[in-house]
Amino acid sequence: MQPAHPAHASGAVASTWLAPRDVVIIGGAGFIGSNLALRLLQDHPSCSLTLIDNMSAGGSMRIADLAGDQRVHVHEVDIRTPRDLAGLLPAGALLIHLASNPNIAAATTNPAIDFDAGTAVTNAVVEAARVSGIARIVYASGSGVYGDRGQALLREDDACLAPVSTYAASKIAGEALLSAYAEMFDIPAHVFRFGNVVGPRQTHGVGFDFALRLMADPSALRVLGDGTQSKTYVHVNDVIDGILLALATDSGELFTILNIGTDEYLTVADIASLAIELICPESATRIEFGDSPRGWLGDVPVMRMSSQRIRARGWSPRVSSRDAVAEGICWVRDCLRPDGSPR
Ligand SMILES: NC(=O)c1ccc[n+]([C@@H]2O[C@H](COP(=O)([O-])OP(=O)(O)OC[C@H]3O[C@@H](n4cnc5c(N)ncnc54)[C@H](O)[C@@H]3O)[C@@H](O)[C@H]2O)c1
Repeated sequence: MQPAHPAHASGAVASTWLAPRDVVIIGGAGFIGSNLALRLLQDHPSCSLTLIDNMSAGGSMRIADLAGDQRVHVHEVDIRTPRDLAGLLPAGALLIHLASNPNIAAATTNPAIDFDAGTAVTNAVVEAARVSGIARIVYASGSGVYGDRGQALLREDDACLAPVSTYAASKIAGEALLSAYAEMFDIPAHVFRFGNVVGPRQTHGVGFDFALRLMADPSALRVLGDGTQSKTYVHVNDVIDGILLALATDSGELFTILNIGTDEYLTVADIASLAIELICPESATRIEFGDSPRGWLGDVPVMRMSSQRIRARGWSPRVSSRDAVAEGICWVRDCLRPDGSPR
């Protein structure tokens, strides 16, 4: 496992953040969760961390280096059957909810997946939070909530949210549940709408897929869509900086929504070329593009996001989109086998 990106090894904002002693991360063995856990332990030595995860994303390897830490308590639990979820949540804790179905295309054959693994799960989380007296909830939403808006710059106060996937619909439902629980039960919530998050320990995504496919067969790379899809890619440690900064500069509002993305955009064709350069530069790899601008049903081919709200609090990404994607690809190359299992 590689260390955190040097630029983020000790975040400037984190030292000013008065963390509660107890932090619970649901989905804590996933990509963002494991990086966040590492960062909290580094920056807040007195924190006590509960990681709840069903390990469906192959997570145990991503938290293997945290396993011996006395401050970390890991519960392998599927919160779709949340019998005892409230019992795992210490009163007064900060709860960070990151669990969801990662595969937008899965709904093509299983249209209920995002309701079951997203909306229903978030409902179980907010209710367990209410019962156990959680102090604050952080929720991972995504740019998909805005829908397919082409070149329009997506802002948090956009009134019209028109998702084109059940994944994004479940994210809006989750946001709505948090808003309602904030108002009705006085549980403050921070919602973060991320762009594509990349970096070490990633579990999915275009760079991740390309890296594994090229490691298995460098002769050809099949691309979903025509390669023109164009989106923002943000380093996971920049995302974590944004979350910690938002908590540190909390204005006392009950419900806060913040976009987090860079102002740079990469195409899928750019990422294919980068993956070839980093995985198999000596091979004459044939890139096989599809013929649709959309990669799959529910894909948003062009996304432009404003992160002005979090920038106004002093955040800016430290890593360019290209470097962030490259670091994620190199992590896959160096830490995983072609079947995705750990080296
Ligand atoms: N990675 C991105 O590009 C991105 C972009 C926008 C939003 N998000 C959101 O951020 C959150 C974290 O993303 P990630 O990339 O770390 O995903 P991830 O799949 O790596 O992590 C999610 C974790 O949740 C766990 N999980 C899922 N369902 C569960 C359940 N029912 N019970 C217990 N554990 C469960 C998984 O095992 C996994 O370890 C997700 O909600 C995702 O939708 C991610």
